[in-house]
Amino acid sequence: MRLVLYTGKGGVGKTTTAAATAVAAADRGVRTLILSSDMAHSLGDVMDASLTSVPVSLGPKLDAMEIDARSEIGNHYGTIRDYLVELFRYQGIDDVVAEELALFPGAEEVAALLAVEQLSRSDDYDFVVVDCAPTGSTLRLLSLPDMLTGALRVVPSLARMLSTVVSPVVQLAVRAPIPSSPVFRQLEHLIEERAVQLRNRLSSRDTSVRIVATPERMVIDEARRAFMELSLFDLPCDAVVMNRLLPEAAAREDFFRGSWERQSERRQELEELFAPVAVLDAPLQRDEVIGLEALSAHGAEIFSACEPHALVSEAPRIRFTRTRGGHRVHLPLPGASADALEVAVVEDELIVRAGSRRRAIPLPPRIARLPLESARLHKGALVVSFSGAKGAKGAKPAAERDSA
Ligand SMILES: Nc1ncnc2c1ncn2[C@@H]1O[C@H](COP(=O)(O)OP(=O)(O)O)[C@@H](O)[C@H]1O
Ligand SMILES: [Mg+2]
Repeated sequence: MRLVLYTGKGGVGKTTTAAATAVAAADRGVRTLILSSDMAHSLGDVMDASLTSVPVSLGPKLDAMEIDARSEIGNHYGTIRDYLVELFRYQGIDDVVAEELALFPGAEEVAALLAVEQLSRSDDYDFVVVDCAPTGSTLRLLSLPDMLTGALRVVPSLARMLSTVVSPVVQLAVRAPIPSSPVFRQLEHLIEERAVQLRNRLSSRDTSVRIVATPERMVIDEARRAFMELSLFDLPCDAVVMNRLLPEAAAREDFFRGSWERQSERRQELEELFAPVAVLDAPLQRDEVIGLEALSAHGAEIFSACEPHALVSEAPRIRFTRTRGGHRVHLPLPGASADALEVAVVEDELIVRAGSRRRAIPLPPRIARLPLESARLHKGALVVSFSGAKGAKGAKPAAERDSA
């Protein structure tokens, strides 16, 4: 089953484009589910239907729903949350505050994403479209399975620590709540299974992220960053939708000529920036795109040359290659600048920091033990070379020769 997630800067038309994609797919006979994971649900408004946290049928092939993140939290880590609430209360924190504290930043989004992963295993649909939150939080979120596996590992020991760090006076009076085994079981399940399943789902060939942009400077700059960051986390982007494009007739109107020319330049810029990823054009409609009929017409225009549920195009992914002198990791980072990049090898992971994002890439055992030789940006990709001389730290770097 195909899973497509739409993201982009706030207000660019994510919900509209996601909805138009779903309606277009359903129109072509594909069993489609559209759901919104954005906490500011507006999918119902766009589809002109009242949506709930269970799928509602809007047509023979089309269902829609809005994820209720708070109740998903209960499903996925209710036991952990309840324990944390208890722990915070014990620390003398007010009930309401304790409940809020127990929601680590992004807890709702994570729960929503876990629910998406679960839904994407359903046999009822061929295509699931997700209307995500704006780029920043979506990216933080999509990179989360990685962080989750890393960060959550410390939670059990942290929780044990917290429950023992109390002032001697208090300790005399009461014992801190000790996490019970169901808490550890749920934590383990979350880390060992759900986060891994989510990670696999997101980087699978059946999943794509699509970025929605408009012909504005700030929007394009954010789209460029988003594209680089998706690539850093190996989350495949298969298309960019350029929304609100003025029709050609605008070029003949004095007032709109400037905008039309700027838009053409930016369309071109976007195409160069994202190549070989496809740019799909979404025209500016005369009125807001609301209701199934309008969405169907809008979707037909966006997907005039390709299928809404297809893998529209393929961006290059991370590659491990053998060179004559050793091994090489090739990580596409389109638009990255060398001064905002940091590379290190820590134990068996390649740590790449690009701007404010950091990813730990597990290295295959055959590479992990080799000395890091060089890291450079080459044609929009980070190329990290490892010398073949096993354990020969400080050995002279071998000449770079590709065998492939
Ligand atoms: N191509 C378009 N033509 C006309 N109106 C549009 C188009 N795309 C979006 N809109 C309108 O712009 C507003 C914001 O769109 P929305 O999809 O809610 O953005 P986002 O989900 O990114 O915040 C809505 O009123 C929507 O109807
Ligand atoms: Mg929206």
